[in-house]
Amino acid sequence: MAMQALRESAKTLRIGVIGGDGVGPVVLQAAQRVLEAVPGIPKPSFVPLQAGFEHFQKTGTALPRETVDALKSECTAAMFGAVSSPSHKVAGYSSPIVALRKEMDLYANVRPVKSVEGHDPRVVDMTIVRENTECLYVKQETIEDTPTGRVARATRQISERASTRIGRMAFEIALAAAEVKKQRGGSYGWIGAPTVTIVHKSNVLSVTDGLFRESVRAVAKEYPTVEVNEQIVDSLVYRLFREPEKLSTLVCPNLYGDIVSDGAAALVGSLGLVPSVNVGDSFIMGEPVHGSAPDIADRVPSIANPLASIRSAALMLEFMGYVEPAAKIYDAVDESIRQGKVTPDLGGKLSTEEVTEVVCKQL
Ligand code: NAI
Ligand code: MG
Repeated sequence: MAMQALRESAKTLRIGVIGGDGVGPVVLQAAQRVLEAVPGIPKPSFVPLQAGFEHFQKTGTALPRETVDALKSECTAAMFGAVSSPSHKVAGYSSPIVALRKEMDLYANVRPVKSVEGHDPRVVDMTIVRENTECLYVKQETIEDTPTGRVARATRQISERASTRIGRMAFEIALAAAEVKKQRGGSYGWIGAPTVTIVHKSNVLSVTDGLFRESVRAVAKEYPTVEVNEQIVDSLVYRLFREPEKLSTLVCPNLYGDIVSDGAAALVGSLGLVPSVNVGDSFIMGEPVHGSAPDIADRVPSIANPLASIRSAALMLEFMGYVEPAAKIYDAVDESIRQGKVTPDLGGKLSTEEVTEVVCKQL
């Protein structure tokens, strides 16, 4: 359903491009080139938009109103590069990506973590579906002095509404993934009945995680062909390292999802490889998982790995209903990895542009 709405908005591809800071703009340029080169989609157009720390330093706002307005009024999707966030508090600054997710109600963060057939020794083929709007990230923290020292508290919000919609998203994704596998005849990676694993800790947090678990289970009734599992988050992490090949679609409250998805990314090598999308009912924004990589951002020519952004663009297309073009891009990326035509973070010698060229040629 959610995905259906996205598919309907996808007849034109007018894509807001928010490069941000550091390597963000250069990796998004790579993604744009691939979107321009891939056959089978309407000719995309791009709307360059501002956000980030550099923009904040120039103007005093990290996420200008014009960016949000342009996304809402003229774009059918967006790509987000990365922004730098100082670790110390800077008055007036808060991360634009968090604000954007809220503004556009992009309530799901979807992160597929997949190994490359014929390259990685370990078979990993899972998708983490992370709730994006609540949990401890409502950021309601207090601190007070008490006779025994300071006590800090944080509110954790879990709502039936948010848990239900993220649950539905996970079931839709499990079904769609199974369908894609069937169509493409892929035998690599996880196969079997579509399965959703609910990640929680309701043995301890029986009220909050209890509600999450119960809400997702209630949605499961709408999806009789999808198997439902559940796993306590700590033992899930154990399984993630021991037998990642057995995991497929995981649905998590915000904090667990944040941790599990970064951990899972480590199973397939460089941060420069892992894509994500932020998804709502009527908008989608692709985003590489990595940050602004300030340590390599000034290199000329750029050596930032563009593959996470290129895969994020493919994932965005897949959610918009362009399954075949997305698959073409995934295959081209996998091929460049198998051939070792990659940037230095993966042991290669190529620049950002050269890797992009290799991918485009294989489309
Ligand atoms: P990072 O992901 O920027 O970098 C971690 C390491 O991975 C670095 O050594 C970097 O060179 C490498 N790396 C990352 N992306 C790469 C790519 N595409 N190609 C090759 N190597 C790559 O994370 P870090 O260093 O913790 O944070 C740097 C800045 O990025 C901080 O200001 C942080 O707040 C921000 N950040 C932003 C995110 C976002 O916008 N969504 C996410 C994570 C961090
Ligand atoms: Mg994270």
